Amino acid sequence: MKHFKRHLITSALPYANGPIHIGHLAGVYIPSDIYTRYLRLRNKEVIHICGSDEHGVPITIKARQEGLTPQEIVDRYHAMNKESFEKFGITFDIYSRTSAKIHHETSTEFFRKLHDKGEFIEKNIEQYYDEEAQQFLSDRYITGTCPHCNSESAYGDQCESCGTSLNQTDLVNPRSSITGSKPVMKKTKHWFLPLDKHESFLKKWILEENKHWKGNVYGQCKSWLDLGLQPRAVSRDLSWGVPIPLDNAKGKVMYVWFDAPIGYISATKELTPDWEKYWKSGDTRLIHFIGKDNIVFHCIIFPAMLKSEGTFILPDNVPANEFLNLEGNKISTSRNWAVWLHEFLEDFPGKQDVLRYVLCANMPETKDNDFTWKDFQSRNNNELVAILGNFVNRTIVLTHKYFEGKVPALEKPGETDLEIIEQIPLIRNRTGENLEQFRFRDALREAMSLARLGNKYLADTEPWKIFKSDPGRVKTILNISLQITAALSVITDPFLPFTASRLRKFLNTGEIGWEQAGEKEILKPGHKVNPPELLFEKIEDDQIAEQFSKLMKNKESSEQKESGAQPPKENINYEEFAKLDIRTATVLKAERIAKTKKLMKLSVTTGVDTRTVVAGIAEHFNPENVEGKKVAILINLEPRKIRGVESQGMILMAEDSAGKLVFVSPVETISDGSVIK
Ligand code: MF3
Ligand code: ZN
Repeated sequence: MKHFKRHLITSALPYANGPIHIGHLAGVYIPSDIYTRYLRLRNKEVIHICGSDEHGVPITIKARQEGLTPQEIVDRYHAMNKESFEKFGITFDIYSRTSAKIHHETSTEFFRKLHDKGEFIEKNIEQYYDEEAQQFLSDRYITGTCPHCNSESAYGDQCESCGTSLNQTDLVNPRSSITGSKPVMKKTKHWFLPLDKHESFLKKWILEENKHWKGNVYGQCKSWLDLGLQPRAVSRDLSWGVPIPLDNAKGKVMYVWFDAPIGYISATKELTPDWEKYWKSGDTRLIHFIGKDNIVFHCIIFPAMLKSEGTFILPDNVPANEFLNLEGNKISTSRNWAVWLHEFLEDFPGKQDVLRYVLCANMPETKDNDFTWKDFQSRNNNELVAILGNFVNRTIVLTHKYFEGKVPALEKPGETDLEIIEQIPLIRNRTGENLEQFRFRDALREAMSLARLGNKYLADTEPWKIFKSDPGRVKTILNISLQITAALSVITDPFLPFTASRLRKFLNTGEIGWEQAGEKEILKPGHKVNPPELLFEKIEDDQIAEQFSKLMKNKESSEQKESGAQPPKENINYEEFAKLDIRTATVLKAERIAKTKKLMKLSVTTGVDTRTVVAGIAEHFNPENVEGKKVAILINLEPRKIRGVESQGMILMAEDSAGKLVFVSPVETISDGSVIK
């Protein structure tokens, strides 16, 4: 094992185009904060770096939608997200941003160095271009049908329904997301990082030297490496981002995934003039905390960039988490299926530690995991209130009741008492060992086991029953309970920082180090403790029901917004429905009705007869595409003359909120005249 002198901890820079939700917290920022707090408690030299990722196509799309500039969008969310993190006690040493001048300078210098060293390849490639918007379409500016799963909303870089990473030319029926028009191919120059050149290095470094990485991370890297690496474009035709610092690159910026990880370096520079000590000495341990969708960028692409640059260290570990779901469904910003931190703070003021606790207990460490409000309630009520809160409260209340708030002496401890005392450093050690292995759930369970132990100790010894008969024994019991409380104020600190600091306030002590938490008498006899306050309070059913219905309401309104679906019409009864005579039919002939834009005259065979129907579909279809079509037709609609043509019935069509029209077509195999009911 290498000997490291200092730690450089990074947390993925969240995009500044939306607020932070519990998925972000559970995946990245809770674990990184726990880890960093643990290292600080052990007096290690450590800095924790984060900031906003402010470039990329989605930010420009959001700005366009809201009629704002990208800078205005990122200003809004940078401020909001920085505040959310602070309020949840996520202790970054710096929360910087990639639109900052220092970041533009740092990433420019980085790009130029790689360019001058010949680490890029320049290629002229064909890219989709929107002639109406006069713009090349990269990544999310282009949508189309996924060739793998047929989802119609795949992006130029990825299909979100099946997760496949795509090239824009893979899309079937590509569309510009700016104008909706069909893009054309046009030549453009781009810079590529030849990942293939680094493949053998990466294989050795990850697959052989980093076997200790988490299974989910190692596995994903291995499958990328097994597939073989391709050169990857690091420039984009876009105006928002860090400009490519070359003469022949007008109108081009760095790909967001090129500049964003350099943001870790820029932020460190902003934090300290000593930044090179962190990034360039072999005795620094660099750890990237990220979510699983970031693995390839942090384990393959960024290391290849750092290696090409030549003077930086590589990460020692990348303990990525999987995803947190919410009530069984994938968290989604666009569908508003999320618990937002700023809303949680409004609904549950002062309960940040409860959320931190529940998210750590359910952390998606090795597989996706689920957050439910029911579980939130029961962990609060059955664990935080009933175990931790109850133990601490009884200990301090009894100390005040029997000993005027002064720590009593440890008088003649018996065998069981000594066993309890022995457990304290053991539990502390196991908590630490789990943290060092990035097993946060186990670590939290260990830490809580100390509160469980204390609770059971009080329940078994019942000091409130024996004070009159054996006050000496009660001294011992409360001395030990107070030492446990003091140890708890240390070992719960990484997980529950607000609670731990309240515990120290109750105990009337300053910071206690991790080492000290295993010592015998953390609190000396005679030390005065403060009166207790309630540590946690019960969460009632109606609070949970309210959160659940809020979630459902959000979902419904965003579904309506998204699909533009009209609200349902008033109910009808069966008799009314049964009056409709709807049949399958085939269009024999179709022709436009002269001097109208919309109307088409159709001759339709209904199985019963052949009749004429006028339909308002001429703007959507060509007659030749309508002829031969299977349709559904309402045949008992009163005939009506339209533009001199008698229309005998109504062809059923579906129309979406954007006015797109399609036939309601029965499957081809059914014979004309079949009744639809
Ligand atoms: N913004 C990215 C995301 O939310 C993470 C960027 S991490 C960095 O997925 F390394 F690029 F900074
Ligand atoms: Zn797909």
